[in-house]
Amino acid sequence: MSATTRTITAPPSTAYKIVDVPELQRDVIKRYAVPGTFVGASEKESPWVPFGTNAAIRHLAFDVRHNIFSNILWIKSKGVVGTHKHRGTVVMICLEGSTRYLEYDWVATPGSFIYETPGLTHTLVTDDPNGVKLFGWLQGPIEWYDEHGNFVETSDVWWFMNHYETYCREHGIPINKQLYL
Ligand SMILES: [Fe+2]
Repeated sequence: MSATTRTITAPPSTAYKIVDVPELQRDVIKRYAVPGTFVGASEKESPWVPFGTNAAIRHLAFDVRHNIFSNILWIKSKGVVGTHKHRGTVVMICLEGSTRYLEYDWVATPGSFIYETPGLTHTLVTDDPNGVKLFGWLQGPIEWYDEHGNFVETSDVWWFMNHYETYCREHGIPINKQLYL
């Protein structure tokens, strides 16, 4: 280890201040970097949009370059969100309540982490009388099937944007540009 290398076992600064750091590409970053985003907790910033009769989706982010969409799925009481197949990767955290898939033997409770990969097909249920809230960061299309295994529809970033914008238009809610990455 050289004299200038330090092994980090804790953050090297805990100073409560904005620190200016060196940046060799400062000029191109300034011109081309895409800002991050922030969506507050208020329904004014993103409303709960009905998804069937017992569920709603609170949209958080749409990335049309990568077919990525992020949201909170709320199943309001004991119920099912039907069989679907992923063509991309999904990251989820259970925020409230509990949920499971009929195909697996685990139950997600608040704090549980779920990772789904392309090709998986499963059926989401909640047995909790208070349902479940799931934060999701989803990439790629989701294919929906009926109870007989017949393909019905594909949901991708365009579907989720249309779901959000249609509801906003019908309810006079301004489109929140912060949702568009
Ligand atoms: Fe899934």
